[in-house]
Amino acid sequence: VLHTKRTDALDGVIGGTEETTTGVMRLRAMAREGVLRYPIVAVNDADTKHLFDNRYGTGQSTIDGIIRATNFLLAGSKFVVAGYGWCGRGLASRARGAGAEVLITEVDPTKALEAVMDGFRVMSMNEAATIGDVFCTVTGNKNVLGKEHFEGMKNGAIICNSGHFNVEIDIPALEKMASSKRTTRSFVEEYSMKDGRKINLLGEGRLINLVSAEGHPPSVMDMSFADQALSVEYMVKNHQSLERTVYRVPADLDKRVARLKLESMGIKIDRLTPEQEEYLAGWSEGT
Ligand SMILES: NC(=O)c1ccc[n+]([C@@H]2O[C@H](COP(=O)([O-])OP(=O)(O)OC[C@H]3O[C@@H](n4cnc5c(N)ncnc54)[C@H](O)[C@@H]3O)[C@@H](O)[C@H]2O)c1
Repeated sequence: VLHTKRTDALDGVIGGTEETTTGVMRLRAMAREGVLRYPIVAVNDADTKHLFDNRYGTGQSTIDGIIRATNFLLAGSKFVVAGYGWCGRGLASRARGAGAEVLITEVDPTKALEAVMDGFRVMSMNEAATIGDVFCTVTGNKNVLGKEHFEGMKNGAIICNSGHFNVEIDIPALEKMASSKRTTRSFVEEYSMKDGRKINLLGEGRLINLVSAEGHPPSVMDMSFADQALSVEYMVKNHQSLERTVYRVPADLDKRVARLKLESMGIKIDRLTPEQEEYLAGWSEGT
């Protein structure tokens, strides 16, 4: 908004911080094109943010949202996760923990391989579409589930999204293919296909963990918000030397949040001795 509709309010803005994956991608694109008007700290890219909030937060709260909306029994079901990034990993591991057989779709070969070696079945969405009972997109991309997938889905399939708002599922295509739709429960819309199959769309394709559950628990958001607060402080202190681009959260700040979190959990860890520090930093010993 500051870059388009309210450029009049840009005066005096010294910088910004960005919470989420998609936001950081957009801001990086703006920096690349030279249109970013102030420096950004990419809070999402801090280890203490995406490794925890995206993975454990989204993982748990997405399952929570799907269950609250549907009361569906995950045990024994076939659960398709589109995207094996940080959110996808969390979601896949939680769905597996609930007894589902988890199928992964990816476009990145390394992530796909990682999913294979984590013990998941990996395949194209065209193939998964015919097998899955529940589908959840967490890619940050658009039209990840579309017409060709809806065509192959089983009767009663459940589709939802927990990634980047309501474009990950091609809802206009679903609307076109359906002969009618009705709301069967809060947050569940049942689309009747012309061949008689039903497909259940949850929460209008919006982030299901926010639609029908409560988002992430505070005990993981505390780390993200600590990163936010400390990044704002960093921006206030350093903005004069920063350029109009996207910066990572400084590593010492990131580690500080991890240390604070451990402390709040009453967990103590070891520290490197001076001898160990020297050994790790040097090259003359152990080569
Ligand atoms: N629901 C929430 O509360 C919540 C929380 C954090 C992040 N998010 C959002 O979730 C999305 C994913 O975040 P992330 O941190 O996991 O990102 P990420 O970049 O780690 O992972 C996204 C993955 O999706 C894959 N992908 C892209 N297009 C695909 C396609 N067509 N089919 C299959 N896979 C595809 C990418 O290769 C990547 O591995 C982002 O939009 C982010 O903003 C939501």
